[in-house]
Amino acid sequence: MKLLVTGGTGYIGSHTCVALMDQGYSLIILDNFSNSKSSVLENLRKLNDNFIFYNIDVTDKKAVEQVFSKHEIDGVIHFAGYKSVEESVVEPLKYYLNNVVSTMILVKVCKKYNVNKFVFSSSATVYGENKVPFKEEMELLPTTNPYGETKAMSERILMDVAKADPNFSVSILRYFNPVGAHESGLIGENTKGIPNNIMPYISKVAKGELDKLKIYGNDYPTPDGTGVRDYIHVMDLAEGHVAAYKHLSKGVHIYNLGTGKGTSVLELVQAFEKANGMKVPYEIVERRPGDIAVCYADVSKAEKELGWKAKRNLIDMCRDAWRFESSI
Ligand code: NAD
Ligand code: UD1
Repeated sequence: MKLLVTGGTGYIGSHTCVALMDQGYSLIILDNFSNSKSSVLENLRKLNDNFIFYNIDVTDKKAVEQVFSKHEIDGVIHFAGYKSVEESVVEPLKYYLNNVVSTMILVKVCKKYNVNKFVFSSSATVYGENKVPFKEEMELLPTTNPYGETKAMSERILMDVAKADPNFSVSILRYFNPVGAHESGLIGENTKGIPNNIMPYISKVAKGELDKLKIYGNDYPTPDGTGVRDYIHVMDLAEGHVAAYKHLSKGVHIYNLGTGKGTSVLELVQAFEKANGMKVPYEIVERRPGDIAVCYADVSKAEKELGWKAKRNLIDMCRDAWRFESSI
């Protein structure tokens, strides 16, 4: 089975590539290194070398077509995209052009080459301020940023295409908060500059590269006042993709990939300290604009239909995140 993986040298893509190759899939990986390093390829090869790589921009239709014409492709997993909420507010066109256009181009080329299996990286951000736990059938609420809109739009495009073409099988995966790294420590989340997301920020504080963690608000309506999220180990998420691909069937199927469990910022800090035997200094600051109080998944659909469930706990996530961070 040959799968095309876009954004395969990025954080979630690289871990999913390992999980897929471990299951015997051979891969064609596309990436333009806009948010990843070419050194990821060397480390991926140490884990499994059953892949071919092309340095290609997925919005370049001609280049994508060339790849499809050269290889017999069974299905596509589309990770490539930009993911910074903050940046998307400042540069919305950059986000719509990359995230929405790449999805449209890939689907168009898939149809031309009769490739009918497609897995798409969406985000829990599309639920907006719905009531927790978030369920797949909930009406999507407007997100407060262009990044979230690119995910909601891509979802709608895929739904329309599948409605018009009964042979098309799509799995839309809504990720909650992926953290951690591959157990080998060879691949992980390699953020450029000061991280926006919490786990890489905590890791950089632990490493001494940043002074202290700024906790954005302790006056939320949550048990300890800090924001609650559904953190999921990136290898569990990766294995969720393998399950989703194996269970692809005609039409569009949407799955939450999370653990179903909410963890507060303070609980996460404590887990990190316990897992790694170190202190993480922090201070409480103002709320971050655009943040919601609580976000966690109802994961029963993925469990029932895909037979997939997250296995790793918070301590595993913190230990593996630190193992990777301390190695780079
Ligand atoms: P990432 O930035 O680490 O990986 C994305 C990869 O895509 C990068 O390697 C980048 O170089 C590549 N890329 C971007 N645009 C490209 C293009 N036009 N052509 C070729 N390659 C391109 O991000 P990630 O955390 O691995 O996220 C993967 C996907 O999952 C993204 O679509 C993201 O929006 C989505 N997602 C991520 C999270 C998260 O918390 N990390 C949560 C929900 C959804
Ligand atoms: C953010 C994005 C979301 C995206 C997700 C995964 C925003 C508003 N939302 O979600 O769209 O899908 O990342 O990429 O950016 N926190 C701190 N201090 C920090 C960083 C975070 O206290 O330095 C808190 C936040 O307030 C939140 C929790 O930690 O309560 C998690 O934050 P983060 O890792 O940024 O993820 P999300 O806000 O869930």
